[in-house]
Amino acid sequence: MRYVAVCGSPLLKFNDSQNVVRSLEMEGVNLTCGLLHGRDIQFDPQAPENHCNVLVKILAFSSNYRDKSIILRAATYLSQQNFYAFGSDFVAEVLAVGPKVEGLQPGDRVINNNQYPNSGIEGVMPGVTTNHSSKELQIFHQVKLLKIPNSISDEVAAGFSIGAQTSYSMLRKLKVQPGENILVTAAKSNTSLFVINALKHRGVNVYATSTSRKFEDKLLAMGVKQLIQIDPSQEDWLQIPELIQVYRETGGIDCIVDPFFDLHIGRLLPLLRQGEGGRYVTCGLYEQYSTYTGHHFNYQGMALKDVMLFAMINNVQLIGNCVGKTADLQQAIDDCTQGKFTVAVDSVFSGNQIREFIDRTYNSRKRFGKVIFKY
Ligand SMILES: NC(=O)c1ccc[n+]([C@@H]2O[C@H](COP(=O)([O-])OP(=O)(O)OC[C@H]3O[C@@H](n4cnc5c(N)ncnc54)[C@H](OP(=O)(O)O)[C@@H]3O)[C@@H](O)[C@H]2O)c1
Repeated sequence: MRYVAVCGSPLLKFNDSQNVVRSLEMEGVNLTCGLLHGRDIQFDPQAPENHCNVLVKILAFSSNYRDKSIILRAATYLSQQNFYAFGSDFVAEVLAVGPKVEGLQPGDRVINNNQYPNSGIEGVMPGVTTNHSSKELQIFHQVKLLKIPNSISDEVAAGFSIGAQTSYSMLRKLKVQPGENILVTAAKSNTSLFVINALKHRGVNVYATSTSRKFEDKLLAMGVKQLIQIDPSQEDWLQIPELIQVYRETGGIDCIVDPFFDLHIGRLLPLLRQGEGGRYVTCGLYEQYSTYTGHHFNYQGMALKDVMLFAMINNVQLIGNCVGKTADLQQAIDDCTQGKFTVAVDSVFSGNQIREFIDRTYNSRKRFGKVIFKY
């Protein structure tokens, strides 16, 4: 079976005729990555520990922002003889099932079900199904998988799960109502592209912030009413004329959806409607890997005390979100099948294109959507 992995370097062990090994840079850190071959795993369906388990073959996978810190840590700490297979989303074919597995059979296509905070089965970990989604053969408890219909292509399915489950969960918690004004930050992050796509059929006004105007036409076509450019190095974003105008026009934003709270909350929270009803939800932070790069992150904006004071005085709800429920993912799959929800796929790589795949996923400012690696 195959893996796409960060390798300990120098790659004396891995650099043979079968394996493909490439070097590249990420955030100033040198990486050695490879498409590696290893022995197939064995699966005995009759073994008691496999009664509820499923053997799958990964058809295609993708990586998320969260994997970046894992990759950088591996690049920094791995010994020469080791490798770390990465990736967190996938689409796979079911090869075999244990006798107690229900609703799945060989030949079905499945994606990761990252239900959190409970997996639904005692002893089975909640959250992401795997941090090694590039490992071609894997065994999972059936609760960690969800069947996906044939109408959803491998390219879309391989980048679907974490973004769809998280965005649908955030919008469920916000209880978004038709006619409301929603501000989505970091518009071109994958998470925000999922959110924007999920808002398209909800009858709301979507405003978005981004560090550049690149792909403005695409964002407007996805239903964004106005794209506002922000400068991350500028302290006071409330002086940006377009943001002042949006605040005046709307009387205050109803909901902010923010994948990077440490970039945005202290500079955008006062745009929320004051008095009552404003909601802010976040699913993540920007500063996840400075330990491995040595680049210092400088928080800007209101201090925690002022954030909480603003929330308290204005009855604002501050909502945290970590992935979502099975029902969120199923709803996204159903909406996708019915043409009400789409996934932005940037590009698809395969074969020896290891460097191209990782470079496009993490280094390219031209990326617009998920980057997929297909076996
Ligand atoms: N807890 C959960 O369940 C969960 C699930 C999914 C995601 N997340 C979190 O959501 C966040 C986004 O993940 P993702 O995979 O969607 O990320 P991503 O696609 O890699 O985000 C890249 C985008 O971030 C923005 N950005 C990058 N550098 C920036 C800077 N210096 N200043 C301002 N903006 C910058 C840019 O947006 P623009 O080009 O628009 O400026 C860029 O396009 C992460 O924190 C991740 O951990 C959490």
